[in-house]
Amino acid sequence: MSDAPSQPAALRLPALIGHRGAALRAPENTLGGIRRAVELGATWVEVDVMLTRDGVPILHHDYNFARTCAHPVNVAELSSVAVAQLDAGAWFGWAWEGEPVPLLEEAMELFAELGLGVNLELKPTPGRAAETAEATLDLVTRGWPDTLPAPLISSFARECLEVARDYAPEVPRGRLWEALPDDWAAEAAQLEVLSVHLWRQGLTRAQVHAVQAEGYQLAVFTVNAAEEARRFVEWGVDCLITDVPDELLALVN
Ligand code: G3P
Ligand code: MG
Repeated sequence: MSDAPSQPAALRLPALIGHRGAALRAPENTLGGIRRAVELGATWVEVDVMLTRDGVPILHHDYNFARTCAHPVNVAELSSVAVAQLDAGAWFGWAWEGEPVPLLEEAMELFAELGLGVNLELKPTPGRAAETAEATLDLVTRGWPDTLPAPLISSFARECLEVARDYAPEVPRGRLWEALPDDWAAEAAQLEVLSVHLWRQGLTRAQVHAVQAEGYQLAVFTVNAAEEARRFVEWGVDCLITDVPDELLALVN
């Protein structure tokens, strides 16, 4: 085994993280959806963080607002004032009509109220990786609720994690990959990550054990089927990221 990552060793990932809140149960990346995830038993949630035109971190996944807000405009082109007018709930069901696109700052208040563990996935729109990481880490280092553990900062964007490492080395990081690249260990060491997060498809038991043998925790996304979840638990995966925390909770406890 190589030297353990110099990252905050104290954080143990939870066995289960609600994906975008609980994305198959309530509108993703919304405050109502996060509350629902907690009602369904989640103690941690993953949310996506992106910047508005004026550089404000919001919770949102796609590069535009078409799918979740019926508004086919790019995120990078809309100001935070305009984003505040959008409805991110109605597409999911009329009971959710009026659910706004939250600012990260608003979500932080809710995380504190709920005592939630949080994985912030930095999801930069094209060309804004450094800016997205800086704005998010600025908010986190200035105002993260001191009643909560530090958030886990993850990203598919290497640049985001480099900036996060340099800006706030003490805030734990996770590297997302769809498939584990050959040079994964060198990059994970360079980024000083706590965890590696891999797509469920094509993941092998050998890969899980190789990552863990280097001292990293392993999270898998997005696992919704009980049979698959059981397999990953049997392999010793540390954390399942799921749209349906209620269905998988019994399997990990
Ligand atoms: O953080 C895990 C997962 O959310 C990554 O994929 O596209 O759902 O953000 P995506
Ligand atoms: Mg995500």
